[in-house]
Amino acid sequence: MGMKPPAPMALGVLLALTLLAIACLPPSPDQSPHLPPASPPPGPWQEVASPLSGGRAHGKRPPALPAHLQQDQQPSRGRRQRRGVDGEAPPWFSSDDLQKMRLLANGRVVSKTRVPAHGQVLRVELRAVGDVEGDISPASLEEDCRDGRCGLIKRPGDLYEVLAFHLDRVLGLNRSLPAVARRFTSHLLPYSYTNGSLRPIIWWAPDLQHLEDANNDQNSCVLRWLQYQEMLRPHRSTPAAGDGPCSSIPRGEWSRLALFDFLLQVHDRLDRYCCGFQPDPSEPCVEERLHEKCRNPAELVLVHILVRKSSPSRLVFIDNAGRPQHPEEELNFRLLQGIDSFPAAAVATLRSGRLQSLLLESLRVDQELWESQGGAKGLRPLLQTIDRRARILLRYIQEHNLTVFEDSPC
Ligand SMILES: *[C@@H]1O[C@H](CO)[C@@H](O)[C@H](O)[C@H]1NC(C)=O
Ligand SMILES: *[C@@H]1O[C@H](CO)[C@@H](O)[C@H](O)[C@H]1NC(C)=O
Ligand SMILES: *[C@@H]1O[C@H](CO)[C@@H](O)[C@H](O)[C@H]1NC(C)=O
Repeated sequence: MGMKPPAPMALGVLLALTLLAIACLPPSPDQSPHLPPASPPPGPWQEVASPLSGGRAHGKRPPALPAHLQQDQQPSRGRRQRRGVDGEAPPWFSSDDLQKMRLLANGRVVSKTRVPAHGQVLRVELRAVGDVEGDISPASLEEDCRDGRCGLIKRPGDLYEVLAFHLDRVLGLNRSLPAVARRFTSHLLPYSYTNGSLRPIIWWAPDLQHLEDANNDQNSCVLRWLQYQEMLRPHRSTPAAGDGPCSSIPRGEWSRLALFDFLLQVHDRLDRYCCGFQPDPSEPCVEERLHEKCRNPAELVLVHILVRKSSPSRLVFIDNAGRPQHPEEELNFRLLQGIDSFPAAAVATLRSGRLQSLLLESLRVDQELWESQGGAKGLRPLLQTIDRRARILLRYIQEHNLTVFEDSPC
């Protein structure tokens, strides 16, 4: 039973494969995008009002209650918080996304751990509201959050990561980990986490693959810039490229990464050295004397190139804070270097002229973030920045005769 498919089924498989192959052919270049005139850069990404001054965005909410009261005994607030996440969630969130976002936004903090060498973040274990499982035995943390019920609380200044998550989903890239904004009240957390500031909390992927090397555990594989460029080259002839580092990661992954990082101007992964723009002397890449290495490309390496053990051929985008203030005249085009094709669905969304409205629809799901930023009006300048970068990217794609590829397993 089920050993050998009957002939019609085999034919069907053949047909499907043929169709897939056709879908994988590079499509013809599309028509040009429309480029609106540039406008001045937006203000900083921050809370519009300090919660301690009583001025939450709309100033109507009562002071924060202890978390367990908010969640368990204040149904109106609970309902409102979950409204978007339950009923009207946009289609780009999977049910798994929604479940994780709910856990991150409402889950009760049951334990915390410092993350070695990352003083600014705290890993917390969460239990879903209504989860009858009582107190957690200390042993469960040693399980290393393997049950997928942990999150990483980052600094208030990392809130931009939440926007990055929404951008990832709106564009259909699906390589970022779920993230929400939240005000914490748990007595288990240090005061700087419960002082009323909004912080991002990112779902903790239990199976990120890290190199054994303690000095290089921020990567799943070691990849030098020159190796990376070689790997991207079309019709590469060097057989060595096939079994080189990160060779299990298909080209399309790098295209997704480049597109995402360009829109956010994240340079930590592909251009940690700021070789693609003139950095300010106060930039870490200058202070840490990385920038001077740009003179010797053989020394440059990629950082934060990560995959999950459960999915070794997909990149995972973490630490997506990005640079909302990065000046438009100084955009880092080195992030796009070597990429000759971009995911079709993402490019179509950028081209649709609807990026801002889709992002607004998406961000509305995160009630805390939405209110803290002053809603659509407050978010607009930031979204305009991303949209302008998107148009610049479209123009770049056009000017360099780059193609798009369908998001099939090509
Ligand atoms: C997104 O990726 C996750 C794994 O990272 C996968 O389980 C999920 O099905 C993907 N969602 C979509 C819509 O492709
Ligand atoms: C709360 O503490 C964080 C971290 O120390 C700090 O950045 C933030 O400004 C504080 N927020 C308030 C409202 O005091
Ligand atoms: C793109 O294609 C056009 C027309 O075929 C050609 O004139 C132009 O040089 C190409 N540009 C690049 C950057 O390859």
